[in-house]
Amino acid sequence: MEWPKSNDHSLLSKMATNDGHGEKSRIFDGWKAYDNDPYHPTTNPQGVIQMGLAENQLCFDLIEEWIKKNPKWSICTAEGASEFKDIALYQDYHGLPAFRSAIAKFMEKVRGGRAKFNPDRIVMSGGATGAHELVAFCLADPGDAFLVPTPYYPGFDRDLRWRTGVQLVPVVCYGKNDFKITRVALEEAYKKAQEDNIRVKGVIITNPSNPLGTVLDRETLRSIAKFVNEKNIHLVCDEIFAATVFNQPDFIGISEILEEEEEEDVQYNLDLFHVVYSLSKDLGFPGFRVGVVYSYNDDVMNCGRKMSSFGLVSTQTQYLIAGMLSDEVFVENFLAESHRRLAARHKFFTKDLDEVGIGCLNSNAGLYCWVDLRRLLKEATVAGEIALWRTIINEVKLNVSPGSSCHSSEPGWFRVCFANMDDETMKEAIKRIRKFVFENRLVGVASGKGPAVAAKSLGCASKLLRDLKIPYPRQCIMSPQSPLVQATT
Ligand SMILES: Cc1ncc(COP(=O)(O)O)c(C=O)c1O
Repeated sequence: MEWPKSNDHSLLSKMATNDGHGEKSRIFDGWKAYDNDPYHPTTNPQGVIQMGLAENQLCFDLIEEWIKKNPKWSICTAEGASEFKDIALYQDYHGLPAFRSAIAKFMEKVRGGRAKFNPDRIVMSGGATGAHELVAFCLADPGDAFLVPTPYYPGFDRDLRWRTGVQLVPVVCYGKNDFKITRVALEEAYKKAQEDNIRVKGVIITNPSNPLGTVLDRETLRSIAKFVNEKNIHLVCDEIFAATVFNQPDFIGISEILEEEEEEDVQYNLDLFHVVYSLSKDLGFPGFRVGVVYSYNDDVMNCGRKMSSFGLVSTQTQYLIAGMLSDEVFVENFLAESHRRLAARHKFFTKDLDEVGIGCLNSNAGLYCWVDLRRLLKEATVAGEIALWRTIINEVKLNVSPGSSCHSSEPGWFRVCFANMDDETMKEAIKRIRKFVFENRLVGVASGKGPAVAAKSLGCASKLLRDLKIPYPRQCIMSPQSPLVQATT
């Protein structure tokens, strides 16, 4: 017998059907375009290249080598099978002691030993996604709000709000000062929430930033810490990209700021500070769902631990990670090599964009660039940005993320990921961008850096076009709209 199908949403809870997941948002169009037509170098060379996914795939050879050399930590091997029974039975919610110690040590290592983490304060969750929800659940009631500096990771709209009923209030940051989080911007957002009768429970930051790929400097971190301290609200620091910092300046985590307290004139209330971490980016293991809440507040830690039974990390995964991260030689080598490869990929990508006059926000971390395409907008509005985005997906066949999906205050910025593909796919992506820029006569228009840069771009142009076997777009030089006219006369 076939059961009748029903679209009656009243059969489900309001929360389950309130679209808080955001899946219907137009932002998913890019993902659909990729899913329907994924690029493959031989079977689908015209397909869409995925540049909207912040995955770190550059060091899997190192991981594979370690796994082969250390089969005892994989319990489904002859060398590891004797541990199978213990690992497969119930373990307590605190997690394996060896796992918590290894994670705490890894977090210290990533911060250059300048901050200490107590393994007993590590609370597990299903990735940073679960960690954020856990923290929001512990800190806020439905209707309460967190302030979030823009642009921000779009997943926050789902992770923090959907099942908790918490609201997010943007702290509007601007490109003119590299999207710096200022005290003025924090105060404005706080005031706006108060005027709207919204109770502010905290501030959430990502450091290094997703989507900017920048790190917060000491002065900014101190200023944010002082702000929450004075208002008696929480600070949640998402530091899941901590080990992706591939160039100077070094990463400074909030824990370092709290530990230097004695030298400062301010006494921080540690109960207000919480770190969210995961291995999804730094090790490149999003599939393992290893998330961590490190709270300085005992009540949050205890409540979080009770909740973590809803999103425990599988003991099999804990066991493997414990073995891998307690291998100090491996960790040292992995971090150094990962930084080197990320730096090289970032350089390759930004240099090639620069040659066609496309600029990026100066960044030294993350798995993506914040690319400035404002000059290519037909109109400087969100509609203009979405129109350009659709062209990039449908014609250039690249899935990138428009800044509006990250609540950017300025239309025309795009987050473009560079570490989720091999070198050949990256070269193909670059080739498509160059072709698009030249075929549409955008050299110089894209730059916006004035005639000198335009002339430099033009200098590279004929060589690039020869490489790409594209006829030289003569009208480009003569176009009255193009800044190149100035450069050539
Ligand atoms: C800033 C930020 N926080 C949290 C997450 C979610 O991470 P996880 O895969 O560990 O749940 C992401 C994923 O991209 C992210 O960029």
